[in-house]
Amino acid sequence: MCFKICLIGCGDFASQVHGAAHLNYANSDPSVELSACCDLNGELAKAFGARFGYRRYYTDMEAMMDRELPDAVIVLVMPQATARVASAVLRRGIPIFLEKPPGMNLKEIDDLITIAAEYMVPNQVAFNRRYMPLMLRARDIIEEGIYPIQQVNYSMIRYARDDPDFSVTSIHAIDAAMFLAGSTYRKMNLHFEVLEGVEASRSNVSLYGECESGTSININIQPMAGYLSESFSVHGVGVSLLGEVLGPGIKANAGRLEHWVGDEIVGVYSDKGHTKSSRTGIDGEFAAFCDAVRSGAMPTPSLEDCRHQIRLMEAVRNRECDVIDFSNSHTETA
Ligand SMILES: NC(=O)c1ccc[n+]([C@@H]2O[C@H](COP(=O)([O-])OP(=O)(O)OC[C@H]3O[C@@H](n4cnc5c(N)ncnc54)[C@H](O)[C@@H]3O)[C@@H](O)[C@H]2O)c1
Repeated sequence: MCFKICLIGCGDFASQVHGAAHLNYANSDPSVELSACCDLNGELAKAFGARFGYRRYYTDMEAMMDRELPDAVIVLVMPQATARVASAVLRRGIPIFLEKPPGMNLKEIDDLITIAAEYMVPNQVAFNRRYMPLMLRARDIIEEGIYPIQQVNYSMIRYARDDPDFSVTSIHAIDAAMFLAGSTYRKMNLHFEVLEGVEASRSNVSLYGECESGTSININIQPMAGYLSESFSVHGVGVSLLGEVLGPGIKANAGRLEHWVGDEIVGVYSDKGHTKSSRTGIDGEFAAFCDAVRSGAMPTPSLEDCRHQIRLMEAVRNRECDVIDFSNSHTETA
């Protein structure tokens, strides 16, 4: 049976990596159809469709969904528009894969969770680091024998960022640390470092606290350093993992994972040789979403899985210095 996919938002990130991932998936299975793509900018939609194999293009997402009757919709619009577009898709009961952040605040994500439950719609948020081969290898090693995890440290370093709101990128570090820990957050503290000559929205942020499992978390975010890098360390008792996820430097084209036991390296993993859409996890997350929808399984991470990350993103944006305590209620910020 044909599996029809439609896409909304044909901008930068769609062209950089998602388009290639969709084409790879469609090429791997003749029953998958990239039916149509949509952007408010018709020229962009037309060019995107021609480049990545989407058969038709639209500038009106409602018209597209009316005519194409898709089995799944991919939402790649800018963060401020994501919740509104996603809610229109969910209300039609169409399985949805949406870029991060799946809302700008807790209210937006909670509204989406409510609609998804009401219309019983499978949904997945694109936290691509969870599907990077290197991160999956790290999780495998953790599951095979790092217990308890004492500590997860995650560092996101960027240079010359001019984003008006870097929190929508910081959320990747917040999610990746949680993913490595394999546990949701219990309590997190935030510390902001204001730099002379740097706008507050791009100042350094540290988040530190603990997970429900007891694992300690330290996240360091620096948008205005001298290079691009993303790395982590995970420490058990007598065992550690060191991961270089991105960089050092934007041109680096492979990540590296080291597995240490008793001060000796017992294993090294490199993602050298992977394509960009594969090593960044975009191929994997898209295939996982489609496969789950087609087999009737629940895709992951779902909207429901992203509440802590959204709440902490909000706290980073608002430069909240209070302890964010998730331990006692579902809607901590009400
Ligand atoms: N995972 C990552 O590492 C990563 C990196 C960059 C961006 N992103 C995410 O990808 C998403 C897109 O980012 P981008 O940089 O490509 O943004 P962009 O502004 O380049 O593209 C967004 C596109 O969506 C279109 N659009 C908006 N509302 C629409 C609507 N109602 N109907 C049709 N089209 C509509 C716009 O016209 C625009 O072309 C964002 O959610 C962002 O957070 C993720």
